[in-house]
Amino acid sequence: MTIQICSLLSWALFCSTAMLLAIFLKHRKGCGKSDGKLPPGEMGLPWIGETIEFYRSQRDNQLFEEFVQPRITKYGKIFKTRLMGSPTIIVNGAEANRFFLSNEFKLVVSSWPTASVQLMGINSIMEKQGEKHRCLRGIIATSLGPAGLEILVPKICDSVQLYLDKNWNVREEISLYHSTKALTFTIVLECLLGLNFEPGTLNTFERVLEGVFAPPISFPGSKFSRAKKARREIKEMLIKVVREKRKKMESGLGGDEGMLFSQLVSGMIRGEISEEEVVDNVVLLVFAAHDTTSFAIAMTFKMLAEHPDCHSLLLQEHDDIMNKRRSGENLTMEDTKKMKYTWQVARESMRLFPPIFGSFRKAIADIEYEGFTIPKGWKVLWTTYGTHYNEEYFKDPLTFNPRRFEEPIPPYAYLPFGGGPRLCAGNQLAKLNILIFIHYVVTRYNWSLLCPGEQITMDPLPFPSHGMPIKVSLKSS
Ligand code: HEM
Repeated sequence: MTIQICSLLSWALFCSTAMLLAIFLKHRKGCGKSDGKLPPGEMGLPWIGETIEFYRSQRDNQLFEEFVQPRITKYGKIFKTRLMGSPTIIVNGAEANRFFLSNEFKLVVSSWPTASVQLMGINSIMEKQGEKHRCLRGIIATSLGPAGLEILVPKICDSVQLYLDKNWNVREEISLYHSTKALTFTIVLECLLGLNFEPGTLNTFERVLEGVFAPPISFPGSKFSRAKKARREIKEMLIKVVREKRKKMESGLGGDEGMLFSQLVSGMIRGEISEEEVVDNVVLLVFAAHDTTSFAIAMTFKMLAEHPDCHSLLLQEHDDIMNKRRSGENLTMEDTKKMKYTWQVARESMRLFPPIFGSFRKAIADIEYEGFTIPKGWKVLWTTYGTHYNEEYFKDPLTFNPRRFEEPIPPYAYLPFGGGPRLCAGNQLAKLNILIFIHYVVTRYNWSLLCPGEQITMDPLPFPSHGMPIKVSLKSS
């Protein structure tokens, strides 16, 4: 009897130990089933993993320096971790960027947080794969390609000048970051899409954007529920506009076929895309352009303020362009092509301060890479910093040196706009927006930073914590 009890107890002990061991091993490997070798790294606590460390360093804008770099030193350029419940591989370097970005749809698909998907809408381009992605991208690209951009240049010039006359000529202190946000909004909605809204609309859009990376918890007063409410308002507003536009176009009164909104509605009339796809992609375009372009412009001005010699060279370039034009004449596409040094300054600013840290992908198959297996379902995070701050690709990476862009940059080493099939669809519009804004500001105003050492915060996109206040005065001529 005692022997029976003893063997029963030992059996029970054996079973529970085996179960615990299985749970432990599963936890160590995450949720994948692959038997291959996982990259090195710590998975941390169940579910939470290393999320707290990740968020803490992100909030201080030290995500690369405090979270990624120490792990690269410890484990190498590819390592595992667990973030927000998901086992994740963080990859760094041009070769990894090339591999993961160019294998979009084949081995990985883009993977956005729940709140972003709900607020942008499941029909936005960022949620589309394969053929549907290609179709939407084709429609968007018609207005963002060379012919569409040529038409946009005078419109952007008018918007920038109107905005500056109205807001900058009458004040001495300006928030540069908020000015560029308001302007980018106008440029995307009015110039690119061809839509005109009431003045309060920017606030409604901003309420949506504030929730895009918030925890997706809907309780009264939470960022996410405020964002959802604003999103419903925008949807109602846009549906009305889409239906009016459709009616007009079907009765032959469209009028502005070059504009992106008309292209989207045409796609809908042809049956290629749905009404929801039109609405969701308008919201996505505003989101994609808004904080990114504003931050790129703000950081370019920060660098110009900190490097007066670069500012003088840049100013010379713009004075030369201005002096060849009659007074009051708008810039042309040809003029923007002459802004070579300005674009080097902006590119170097985006190298040091990339508006996008990187982005998440999800493995849709077990992936073999560099002798490791990345199990299906795991997330992959590629980073801009992993190459931008690496001297393998950029000599003295922490030094601001716009002239480095005179030499060719190795493929997939400089990625402020991403790469592969999801390369930023608006990168040429962003370039025009940045160049034209800089032109009108430096040729018309004396300006200086009011808060030179201003901290950059991330939430999770980076922004100057005080909105980058500057002092401005009109130049005498
Ligand atoms: C300096 C400004 C900008 C930066 C740094 C930037 C950066 C990026 C990056 C890194 C991606 C790829 C994300 C990924 O791989 O998951 C992206 C995608 C995208 N961007 Fe931009 N962007 C900027 C401005 C714009 C503008 C002005 C527009 C259009 C109005 C735009 C529209 C898009 C769209 C539609 C996508 C999704 C492309 C796709 O999924 O096929 N972006 N952007």
